[in-house]
Amino acid sequence: MWRRSLMLRCFGCRSVGPKGLLGSSAVRACSAPAVPAARITALQAVDLWKEHFVERGVTEPDHSAQYIIAYLLGAKTIESLEKEKLAEFLSPEKTEQMWKLCSRRLSRMPVQYVIEEWDFRDLTLKMRPPVFIPRPETEELVELVLTDLEVGTGVAADAQHTLLEVGCGSGAISLSLLKSLPQFRAVAVDQSQDAVDLTRENAFRLGLQDRLQVHRLDVMKDAETVLSLCNHVSALVSNPPYLYSEDMTTLEPEIFRFEDHAALDGGKDGLKVIKQILTLAPQILSNHGCVYLEVDPRHPPLIQRWVEVNVEEMHYVETRHDITGRPRFCILRKEKSNRDHKLDLD
Ligand SMILES: C[S@@+](CC[C@H](N)C(=O)[O-])C[C@H]1O[C@@H](n2cnc3c(N)ncnc32)[C@H](O)[C@@H]1O
Repeated sequence: MWRRSLMLRCFGCRSVGPKGLLGSSAVRACSAPAVPAARITALQAVDLWKEHFVERGVTEPDHSAQYIIAYLLGAKTIESLEKEKLAEFLSPEKTEQMWKLCSRRLSRMPVQYVIEEWDFRDLTLKMRPPVFIPRPETEELVELVLTDLEVGTGVAADAQHTLLEVGCGSGAISLSLLKSLPQFRAVAVDQSQDAVDLTRENAFRLGLQDRLQVHRLDVMKDAETVLSLCNHVSALVSNPPYLYSEDMTTLEPEIFRFEDHAALDGGKDGLKVIKQILTLAPQILSNHGCVYLEVDPRHPPLIQRWVEVNVEEMHYVETRHDITGRPRFCILRKEKSNRDHKLDLD
């Protein structure tokens, strides 16, 4: 059974209001409740912590307590544990651990960081602050890339293909794609050393390290190096930082205080990294190769217009919607003119 939660609201679904830094990011000062003197059962611990979380205004109090206790009992979800197990008294060590982990959640640390792992599609990935925690909508991005690569563009199953991911974070996208596409290798880059380290660690844990190269590179500053590492790539995938800078102050404390702001802030119009990716794309992709982007719902028409004016050889193919019906994913394809393509072949 996989962990499912809206613990960190997806950005496309967020309500951005004029709350400002002190409105949304301020956290009430809180001290953790004392460890109980008497022994308590797992279910009692869940109920107790749920109450503490509610009292202190911690979001998703129920899920928070449940995921932490399930993790301590060696399971992913509380539903997957037997009733008898939940009715057993916790050992003093487990009780102390529960208090330690729940106290972290009380400080608004996301559950994913508290338990140091989370599920993405069929993978369980290590999580560590401040590396971006993968969101559910990114699973949809992976699904659409897979569908497109497996059937749409007719990528030959027997040929070697490379994909590039810009901004790999924990490695969620690249590792999911590699797991499902055995004929692919991937290059993943990120400006953050924490992200690079975590992607490498997750690749090793999943046995995918031989098909994944990970580099600490900033696409804004290290464009030449990125270009020297990648050409004739079949797909360029990215869930880049795409929040409008002004929206950063409206983020939940879980996000604002614990996740790397460089993973979120896409500049004034949220398009800073996106424009750079699209500028480099024609030199990175093979002819007919595609760019797949996760973006803010306001972005698709802006990206389409910008590419038409600024990037030769890249054609806007379509906008795809997420399961809530919001326009969240852009697909673009490199199309060389017949003349240029012929010159390349000669
Ligand atoms: C929204 S997170 C996505 C992480 C991961 N791909 C995922 O979906 O969970 C964006 C990532 O892009 C990285 N990033 C931001 N600016 C970058 C840049 N200029 N060059 C390379 N990586 C960048 C951040 O460090 C962060 O890991």
